[in-house]
Amino acid sequence: MLGRLNHVALAVPDLAAATAAYRDTLGARVTAPQALPEHGVTVVFVDVGNTKIELLEPLGAGSPIQAFLEKNPSGGMHHVCYEVDDILAARDQLKAAGARVLGDGSPKTGAHGKPVLFLHPKDFFGTLVELEQA
Ligand code: CO
Repeated sequence: MLGRLNHVALAVPDLAAATAAYRDTLGARVTAPQALPEHGVTVVFVDVGNTKIELLEPLGAGSPIQAFLEKNPSGGMHHVCYEVDDILAARDQLKAAGARVLGDGSPKTGAHGKPVLFLHPKDFFGTLVELEQA
């Protein structure tokens, strides 16, 4: 089921500062910020060749990363995203195995315009897992 690592997401309190650190201090290629109101975040992707780093800043009230940043005020690793060939088949297989899919269980459109789902961190050893249909 599990394919390539698509990205590692870092929640950050200040997206402009984090983008500048990756671009200017680390010399990485970064994208322009992209607002994703459906997900309550603004994202910037950092291209590191073999995968991407997704920088996440809260967008709007009730952002799903707000509580995370309250617990981790300087930011931190928020989730890992793996590619799957068929997200509905993956979801059904995971649910049958007892894993909890967040939200209503139907895929949303992610930052790359592809369907994504999130899996409960308690079912995966403390790490929030995102699945993206490749
Ligand atoms: Co992500």
